[in-house]
Amino acid sequence: MKPYRNHVFVCQGKRCSAKGSEALLDTLKERVKELGVKDVKVSKSGCLKMCKETDKEAELCPTMVVYPQGVWYKNVTTGDVDEIIEKHFKKGEPIDRLAHFKLS
Ligand code: FES
Repeated sequence: MKPYRNHVFVCQGKRCSAKGSEALLDTLKERVKELGVKDVKVSKSGCLKMCKETDKEAELCPTMVVYPQGVWYKNVTTGDVDEIIEKHFKKGEPIDRLAHFKLS
């Protein structure tokens, strides 16, 4: 087995779930498969705690984090999926308008 180039964790905590994170997870998995992106692993996670980042709970939801770059995305929708795949996963260019933190 080759190691994955990117490992993505899509939050399925209750605040993100209330804002569509299950559909986001399903769409991301489907599109990665359909586009033949074999070196990216998509996983679900529990609460990533970004929902506690602001005074307004869930303001940043749905959230996801992409490693190894450590890019934390906020307010991601199913409409953002293809752009994330094309720019971040394939070209290594994080999407600035969706990024909340970048560790590298
Ligand atoms: S429920 Fe998703 S960050 Fe907390």
